[in-house]
Amino acid sequence: MTTAIDVHGLRIAFGDRTVVDGLDFSVERGEVFALLGPNGAGKTTTINILTTLIAPNAGTATVVGYDVGTQRTEVQQRISLTGQSAAVDDALTATENVAMFARLAGLDRAAARLRAEELLARFDLVDAADRVVRTFSGGMRRRLDLALSFVVTPEVLFLDEPTTGLDTRSRRDLWDIIRSLAAAGTTVFLTTQYLEEADQLADRIAVLHDGRIAALGTPSALKARIGGDTVELHDERGELLNAIPTDGSVADLRRALDRLADAAAEGVVTLRRPTLDDVFLAVTSGAANVEEHA
Ligand SMILES: Nc1ncnc2c1ncn2[C@@H]1O[C@H](COP(=O)(O)OP(=O)(O)O)[C@@H](O)[C@H]1O
Ligand SMILES: [Mg+2]
Repeated sequence: MTTAIDVHGLRIAFGDRTVVDGLDFSVERGEVFALLGPNGAGKTTTINILTTLIAPNAGTATVVGYDVGTQRTEVQQRISLTGQSAAVDDALTATENVAMFARLAGLDRAAARLRAEELLARFDLVDAADRVVRTFSGGMRRRLDLALSFVVTPEVLFLDEPTTGLDTRSRRDLWDIIRSLAAAGTTVFLTTQYLEEADQLADRIAVLHDGRIAALGTPSALKARIGGDTVELHDERGELLNAIPTDGSVADLRRALDRLADAAAEGVVTLRRPTLDDVFLAVTSGAANVEEHA
């Protein structure tokens, strides 16, 4: 079986508000799949359904072949989930937290200690290993929460906005960890608000918009629809004077600059990378866009 996650017609409403409005997609084993959407788009809700925490109002979903509604235990045994709120015990140290988690996962005392050491090193928490978590900063908590989800290597790893609140270095370190897990065969389902993160990590990206998938495809296919960087010209007060879209190539950037030079335009030139807003504009505007589904 090569399908890790299979979702059909998934729908959920809270009160009279439909949050997820008919999702259909599947994720292959070993794939890194990114669900990209802004705050409130329904990313956490979708992850909560796929990890059996909440039940949908309609539709079905399987994870490694098991139904998330009727085979919750089977699903739970094969996944791990990193949430946005840390599942850590504030009164324990970082080492104690990881070791306890490892013991619960079936490792013996020595193996659990060793696992804690490895993971705290990997997540840059060695100096804080013996501090109680109550004294941790937000970023440290986040890294500890992540470390916990790597105690056992799951078949499918769910990461809900894994790098939110991390600094650039920690973010890049985590990207490396996710890549190495995927290379070793773990299926990764992650959510993010950052186009760059989805682009860096994912084999395929699903764009979540108004509770539906507005586009689904490889990062390069998605980027081809969005276009490349935009050359912008601002006056000294920051007011936008001109914006020339490019395909991101050297030749096209040069053409854009030449156009500004020809117009003898005065101002400060900047290069703006595509944002999530650009993604939505691109995927929700124009009937000419061909939906590409896997
Ligand atoms: N248990 C709940 N009861 C009511 N509304 C909820 C509940 N969970 C989420 N929502 C609402 O559903 C929407 C999507 O939430 P969420 O899935 O957390 O979005 P995201 O993770 O993409 O930021 C939000 O408007 C949120 O307020
Ligand atoms: Mg969320």
